[in-house]
Amino acid sequence: MKLTPRLQTIADSVPNGCIVADVGTDHGYLPVYLVEEKISPYVIAGDVNEKPLEKARELVYSLKLQEKISVRLGDGLHILEEDDRVEVIILAGMGGKTICGILEHQSVSTAEIKLLILQPMVDISMVRRWLGENDFIITDEKITREGKHFYEIILAEPGTGEQLDDVQLELGPRLLEKKVNDPHFRGILEHKLRKYKIILENLKRSRQEIEPQKYNYWVRLVDRIQEELECR
Ligand SMILES: C[S@@+](CC[C@H](N)C(=O)[O-])C[C@H]1O[C@@H](n2cnc3c(N)ncnc32)[C@H](O)[C@@H]1O
Repeated sequence: MKLTPRLQTIADSVPNGCIVADVGTDHGYLPVYLVEEKISPYVIAGDVNEKPLEKARELVYSLKLQEKISVRLGDGLHILEEDDRVEVIILAGMGGKTICGILEHQSVSTAEIKLLILQPMVDISMVRRWLGENDFIITDEKITREGKHFYEIILAEPGTGEQLDDVQLELGPRLLEKKVNDPHFRGILEHKLRKYKIILENLKRSRQEIEPQKYNYWVRLVDRIQEELECR
């Protein structure tokens, strides 16, 4: 199974030998890769919609992997049971709001979980905030690129004690710390800078009175990104 760079980065983040749940699996490529490459002994592939799940089921059966991949229909983490002993949960390719909603309405204790691998398409700061408020620490952050799209991947483990400020929530605490001159990080910063400048322009042009707090939030972000770009 050949994965796209985004899915490959997610697969490379899974520790060897762990039982994994890929929630919102869609096509099922990730579970198949993890099992075929012997990274994971057992994967639960879940999806809330029957149509995508059918594709995953067909793939799993055509490769005779049904002993190692359990394909389940259901909403979020409700497909999991304590007996599954899931150690790693992957939530990828969904909005940040959906990811937070899924983590919030869990049927199993996330305290048992060793690692969350999250790849929100939008609202990433919301996910980072949720993690901090729900006893998870962001241990690593990665960026991949497919064409002109950048994807941020967050790895989080149970733990407490990290307070993230607005800039860290938007740009990523571990990404900001990385000493390497990551070309993808520069790309993502440039992309965010353009986006935030447009937000500021729109706020200035808007006929309504600007809330200083809101305006200063975006100014702080623009300033910080400009600083980051200058020293990289
Ligand atoms: C865009 S696909 C991403 C597929 C794959 N995870 C990836 O990253 O390529 C999002 C999938 O999440 C599923 N999904 C959305 N909300 C869900 C929920 N609450 N529980 C389980 N699956 C969900 C959708 O049905 C869809 O198949």
